[in-house]
Amino acid sequence: MPEPEAVIRALFADVLGVSDVGPGTHLLEAGGDLAAATRLAGRIRAELGVALPLREFLKEPTPEGVAARFGVPRRSSGPVAPPLPAADAAIHAEITDRLRRITPTFSADSTAEPVLLTGATGFVGAFVLAHLLARGRTVTALVRGGEPRRGELVRHLENLGLWQDGYAARLTVVDGDLAAPALGLDRATHDELAGTIGRIIHCAAWVNHVLPYPLLAAANAHSAASILELAVTRRRKPVTYVSTRGVLTPENYPPEAEIAAGPVVALPPEADGYGRSKAVAEAYFARAAELGAAVTVVRIPGVFGDRDRHQIQPGDAWWSWTKATVLTGRYPSSYDLPGNELTQAVPADVIAHVIVDLARPSGEPGCRFVNAVPNRVCSTRDFVAGLREAGLAVEPMDDREWHLAVGRLDVDDVWVAAVAGQVATQPGIDLPQRLPRFSADDDPAVSRAVDAAAISTPQDLAGYVRTLAGS
Ligand SMILES: NC(=O)c1ccc[n+]([C@@H]2O[C@H](COP(=O)([O-])OP(=O)(O)OC[C@H]3O[C@@H](n4cnc5c(N)ncnc54)[C@H](OP(=O)(O)O)[C@@H]3O)[C@@H](O)[C@H]2O)c1
Repeated sequence: MPEPEAVIRALFADVLGVSDVGPGTHLLEAGGDLAAATRLAGRIRAELGVALPLREFLKEPTPEGVAARFGVPRRSSGPVAPPLPAADAAIHAEITDRLRRITPTFSADSTAEPVLLTGATGFVGAFVLAHLLARGRTVTALVRGGEPRRGELVRHLENLGLWQDGYAARLTVVDGDLAAPALGLDRATHDELAGTIGRIIHCAAWVNHVLPYPLLAAANAHSAASILELAVTRRRKPVTYVSTRGVLTPENYPPEAEIAAGPVVALPPEADGYGRSKAVAEAYFARAAELGAAVTVVRIPGVFGDRDRHQIQPGDAWWSWTKATVLTGRYPSSYDLPGNELTQAVPADVIAHVIVDLARPSGEPGCRFVNAVPNRVCSTRDFVAGLREAGLAVEPMDDREWHLAVGRLDVDDVWVAAVAGQVATQPGIDLPQRLPRFSADDDPAVSRAVDAAAISTPQDLAGYVRTLAGS
């Protein structure tokens, strides 16, 4: 019988569609995606009879990394992926090191245009871009691939119903990559932007709730240092960093505690790579004052489309979850329990208004935190009522059975299927959940705006569910 490592290498090669792979070949860096990872983990289980949970597998998705779990010694001595920082102290040391290399040489404050926007090709970023352009601002969008993607960007806004022809003259596209040094900008473009832009809105991120922190760190966490560097070069440009309420994990913020705005009390756990990467970025920005930078960190909740068009982002976790309910025709029976809360969500045009206008940085050095999360929540009962209001027939099913049923769906169609089967084994999944509440007095204008706009009733939800059902 072949050695486990030989079997694993053959399976990697097969899934990647190549003749052979090395012991250190990283599945995702070699062109594999989440669906490939799920297939591979399944085939390893089938061939070697050992279950490797996807999240564990993704910590080191190399033949060598997987073989080590079968007791096969490593050949190389160095780590295959960058090590996950073990504790907050390690991360702070890392941040200090990065910040030390930034030389603040700004002159006067400036509110001059244009705005540099990252993430415009994404869902939230498109609404921010449209909001800026509708207000007559000039925008430079940092996009991977640059000018050749302008047509795609315009079509993206058209598809969302957000584009107007008059916008074209005020939109410039530059080529950049968050994960690269100096945001992947060539030196001339970096210098020009440093001297001409008046504000940075940093909305881009690798939004992926399955991958581990080391894979997300360059794009999501360390890019904060490059943004700060640009923000203080030649002139001070206020920065708005779009973060997520996901940095406020239940481990660190129990639901009974009302959350005031401020830096996180602790980083999200290692298993939450995405939340951790966003929190580490926040930790960079929290030290803005040391550089003379002016930053607002805006933590946003679930973002749906606007109330007129009900656009949705089919690939995002929430809609993948909802699609799983639609495809199975079932929902977890705990959703019928009173007091069980599901989500806090706000339409994207309102979030864009918060990001651009209400949570605008003051221009003074320092970092302000804004929790733009509504206290009005959507309950699980209202979610189910919203599905029915949209004309979908759904019935309850034992929670564990439901998670297992979702885990059997096609991961290419419902990516959340990749984690559902594993969640089924976790204790407490069928207990009612309570979502966090936020202090209203930190930023009353923001709190009022997001509470007034919160998507919480069955009628609210039904419009979005109809878009999902038609997509
Ligand atoms: N949607 C929500 O409900 C929600 C909730 C809380 C927080 N947020 C935050 O809101 C922001 C936007 O989220 P979203 O849902 O709109 O995400 P999205 O639709 O996945 O868009 C992500 C954007 O980031 C860009 N990006 C990713 N990696 C990049 C890189 N290495 N270099 C340059 N650009 C890169 C993408 O560009 P490409 O087109 O090149 O891929 C895309 O424009 C994120 O910071 C996220 O953490 C979103």
